[in-house]
Amino acid sequence: MTERTMPANPVTLADHEARARARLAPDRWAYFSGGAADGITLRANREAWDALRLLPRVLRPLAHGHTRSTLLGRPLVHPIFLAPVAYQTLAHPEGEIATALAAAAQQAGMVASTQSGVTLEAIAAAAGPASERGPLWFQLYLQPDRGATLALVQRAEAAGYEALVLTVDAPVQGARDRERQAGFRLPPGVRAANLPDAAPVAGKAASTDALCGGLAAQAPTWADIEWLRGATRLPLLLKGVLHPDDARQARACGTDGLVVSNHGGRALDTVPATAECLPRIADTTGGAWPLLVDGGIRRGTDVFKALALGAHAVLVGRPQIWGLASAGAAGVAQVIRLLRDELEIAMVLAGCATLQEVRDSVLLPAATSGIATARSDEAPTL
Ligand code: FNR
Ligand code: LAC
Repeated sequence: MTERTMPANPVTLADHEARARARLAPDRWAYFSGGAADGITLRANREAWDALRLLPRVLRPLAHGHTRSTLLGRPLVHPIFLAPVAYQTLAHPEGEIATALAAAAQQAGMVASTQSGVTLEAIAAAAGPASERGPLWFQLYLQPDRGATLALVQRAEAAGYEALVLTVDAPVQGARDRERQAGFRLPPGVRAANLPDAAPVAGKAASTDALCGGLAAQAPTWADIEWLRGATRLPLLLKGVLHPDDARQARACGTDGLVVSNHGGRALDTVPATAECLPRIADTTGGAWPLLVDGGIRRGTDVFKALALGAHAVLVGRPQIWGLASAGAAGVAQVIRLLRDELEIAMVLAGCATLQEVRDSVLLPAATSGIATARSDEAPTL
């Protein structure tokens, strides 16, 4: 987002971003906000949502409109989730505890990272009973040893997590030049609280000779997905899929859904924006199979567009950190609320009473963009 002056009263996610940037030390800001390499994908994620145009309908009945839906058999009050973001204690001393309180208060979904700064048990305790909050899912990085992976899975099951989200796009860390230029290191006291001290965490620095021989040899494969599928009773989603053939294979392996994601532009630079990949994946997997998307979602109109391209729900990564750094739990809650309010405004103004009507609505490419829409065949000739 463009740099802006500090707003006295944050009314957009970008206002929270400006406040967070002013509060966080430059190296921490580089960690949270940076993308891989030249940031081409990081920028593309935003540009792709902006390059889509809404084509509203007028005079349709909107009384009793709502944002409710069902995902994996569970009711959602609205389709906004917090993406897994590691080490939130870098942004605020309460870290993921504050985030979990905010998500629960706003009935948002929350996906807790394997690399959380506090334990998954503490996050689940802060989130409270399932009937009073949105879905609570656990993001899993496969550990090099299946015993260690299974131990994490069993802890997540015991703590009441409702689904597992296996991240498959970051077996090693992307080339995080901005972080390295800023000299970012985890400070004492901030660590991956779910893992033993010596445990390797996903995303080790890519600048090692041992990369292809060493780290990559531990990268998960489809055989691990089949093993994991058999090792848990929880719904299993894969996060970080961009290719329709991988989506097809994920479904064939018995997984329960996908997060179309490029890791917020932090893994492989120059991959397409998620808004560009989503329509083809939605076509491949059919309308009913759970599809979520993240990357650059900053406005209610972005959420609307994601649903119109075939997603059932969206996740936001960095914006939760902006809220957290700017005002703790209250800041995260406000970020979620703003996004939800903007979605509802967009729905009313576009003539959609339900998320199904959003999914059925038409998007147009901006005149200057080459981005294809999901349903270009249905787009009216203007
Ligand atoms: C992430 N992301 C991430 N993903 C994951 O599966 N496990 C993780 O631990 C993390 N950690 C993490 C840290 C930070 C600082 C960021 C910014 C991102 C990726 C995240 O879940 C999500 O895919 C992107 O952040 C979505 O893009 P936006 O909303 O940040 O643009
Ligand atoms: C990141 C890793 C933790 O994006 O997923 O920083």
